Amino acid sequence: MTRGSHPPDPLQSPAGPLAHRRIIVGVSGGIAAYKAPVLVRRLREQGADVQVVTTRGAEHFVTHTSLQAVSGRPVRSDLWDERAEAAMGHIELARWAELLLVAPATADLLSRLAAGRADDLLCTLRLATRAPVLLAPAMNVAMWEHPATRRNLERLQADGCLIAGPDQGPMACGEYGPGRMVEPEALAETVLDHFRAGEWLRGRRVLVTAGPTQEAIDPVRYISNRSSGKQGYALAAAAQRSGAEVTLISGPVSLPPPPGVTTVAVTTAREMHDAVMARVGESDIFIGVAAVADFRPASPAEQKIKKEPGAATSGRTLELVENPDIIAAVAAHPRRPFVVGFAAETHDALAHAREKRQRKNLDLIVVNDVSQPGIGFDSDDNRVALIWDGGERELAQAGKDVLAREIIATIAERLPSGLAPANPQGAKGITFS
Ligand code: PMT
Repeated sequence: MTRGSHPPDPLQSPAGPLAHRRIIVGVSGGIAAYKAPVLVRRLREQGADVQVVTTRGAEHFVTHTSLQAVSGRPVRSDLWDERAEAAMGHIELARWAELLLVAPATADLLSRLAAGRADDLLCTLRLATRAPVLLAPAMNVAMWEHPATRRNLERLQADGCLIAGPDQGPMACGEYGPGRMVEPEALAETVLDHFRAGEWLRGRRVLVTAGPTQEAIDPVRYISNRSSGKQGYALAAAAQRSGAEVTLISGPVSLPPPPGVTTVAVTTAREMHDAVMARVGESDIFIGVAAVADFRPASPAEQKIKKEPGAATSGRTLELVENPDIIAAVAAHPRRPFVVGFAAETHDALAHAREKRQRKNLDLIVVNDVSQPGIGFDSDDNRVALIWDGGERELAQAGKDVLAREIIATIAERLPSGLAPANPQGAKGITFS
């Protein structure tokens, strides 16, 4: 060792799978904060650069001395610390991070984050960073199950936060149930998965349709279906997190646009068709999740159709004409992307989906049985099977966001290696290991 040189950092693996990944680990004040030093250590062993940020409450459970020892950096906790701000201001720190991981995330912290507060350093960083935010909740079972916590969690997920856990088991408070923070080893694994998944579709342009279409009968009535848009929005968000540039063409739904995704609102099947066809030539992947109305009224009335006094209430007929088949047009396009369709079936789901994949000339079809309660239309969960030329894969019932990630992983695996990305500057190739 030459004079003045530093000994190698014993905690950090320079060649680890997280080498030079920049992670802020936020620690809030719950008993699970005692696991934070182990988590930081696991991330550092894999090569990550870690900056720990604590809330006031965290300091009751874990010392800055331990967290500094394992992270190799002074811990930050105060928004008003002049010395720390002079070294790296909170906005710079927010820009520095590639991931903000909060473990444990207490009920109080979830509520402050859901409200968008900026009253301490950690909450301010969450607002100021463009990096993904991964929260590992930990709290008493009753607090976890309280409707206020459920509301906060829904809000945070809609804002694009990722949630890991909590686990189920015996808790420090003596109760048993969900509320334990995910163990540090499993969380480090989730972080690794997150960074790997972020490369799956790097440089790819993905076009997604979601939600229903509405076809006017008159100015106040329309034909539509029960799609909420949840599955399509989850897929758009998952593709965006996998590094893709995503455009979402959405029918009328009441969901907020997924962060980082260009969202185009349409109402009718013909509008959806036109919005898709205007962009398909520059897309690598098309995912048709929308439940497009196959038919529309032939001549929608310009004024509200009134009940005619004395007229029979039954026996009215509505003449329908066929809408364009959007996915078939995409599959026939001269610069055809990788085409993924969905099939909403009520019986013999697999057989119908296999036939539909061939008839519509799709590279992959995702089939769900919409007759089953608790999955399909409007529910938070789904159960799907994926069918491609020469292969099939069934996915167990899970949240639509979890399934979306699996579907994106299968699409990334099945993309022909010769398919040049529409945005080659952004491409880094697919890294599976
Ligand atoms: O929105 P959620 O409440 O979360 O519900 C999700 C879902 C059940 C709507 C979704 O998972 C789903 O199954 N979407 C496809 C619904 C559907 O219309 O399936 P289909 O079998 O009728 O159509 C097959 C494929 O052709 C689909 O990719 C569809 O987008 C496409 N299509 C259909 C008709 C048409 N005119 N143009 C099309 O592009």
